[in-house]
Amino acid sequence: MSESNTVTVSIENAVATVTLNRPHKRNAMSPTLHIEMVDVLEKLRYEKTSRVVVITGAGESFCAGMDLKQFFMDLKDDPAEFDRIYRMATEWRFRTLRYYPKPTIAMVNGYCFGGAFSIVEGCDLAFAAKEATFGLSEVNFKHYPGGSVSKSLANLMRPRDALYYAMTGRPFKGDRAAEIGFINAAYPLAELRDEVMALAQEIASKDPDALHACKDGYRFSLEMSADAAINYAAAKSDQLTLRQKDSWRSEGIGDFLDGKYRPGLGGHEKAEK
Ligand code: COA
Repeated sequence: MSESNTVTVSIENAVATVTLNRPHKRNAMSPTLHIEMVDVLEKLRYEKTSRVVVITGAGESFCAGMDLKQFFMDLKDDPAEFDRIYRMATEWRFRTLRYYPKPTIAMVNGYCFGGAFSIVEGCDLAFAAKEATFGLSEVNFKHYPGGSVSKSLANLMRPRDALYYAMTGRPFKGDRAAEIGFINAAYPLAELRDEVMALAQEIASKDPDALHACKDGYRFSLEMSADAAINYAAAKSDQLTLRQKDSWRSEGIGDFLDGKYRPGLGGHEKAEK
């Protein structure tokens, strides 16, 4: 495990771009990549200049899934190390991304196979190149969507689509991924980055505490009874009031009532100009 820089980060206009960086291996997730990704996400969690995180792949691939050699073959006879990496691999894709305090966007620029589906599903939003190729290829090598992948499929895909693609292993393109609701939208590859960055910057212009509450309110209510979710929402609103020093009321609603902007048609930044 001598490789490093398997994940790179750049920050521009309040958007952190996290790039899976093993293009020679189609950005397959090696044990080192998982370790480095856990570290990167932990640092970005508290980093102050970035408000939105975009995850993408170096070169022409988004991510070819787990590194089949380094993970399944090389660790075959080392159950403790296999378990350590397995836990890390599922943790960042399935839990860290899901409950991340900043909005996350998957930007699928090319191949997206197997374990990469959990990255896409773990992010709040996802966009792909029309040319990108998706596939639950596991069945093609006599396995199945293991780790966090089956649960990711169950979370986001309709049952017919999930089982169809899991059982056939058939690849599909970005347009189809959008059609079945696995991603928000597909754009021509040449336009993908501009589209995603424009959206990321728009989201970055919103209040970060309000964005955090949007995520928590949605994600945690999925796991609660209606009564618990409504009670949680009231407590969350009080938390927001405290964190923002009541600015959602004094500025957000106050400036609307003063006729400075119309929240139905755009963000509060319009009132600030
Ligand atoms: N694990 C380990 N290595 C991988 C990999 C993976 N998931 N995907 C690609 N690679 C490696 C290849 O072994 C090859 O390594 P080498 O140059 O040392 O021989 C290199 O990446 C390039 O792959 P190659 O197959 O030559 O590139 P390609 O552009 O023709 O095809 C893919 C790309 C992604 C279609 C093909 O590599 C593939 O099918 N990979 C497996 C995808 C998969 O089933 N993922 C699910 C894992 S859960």
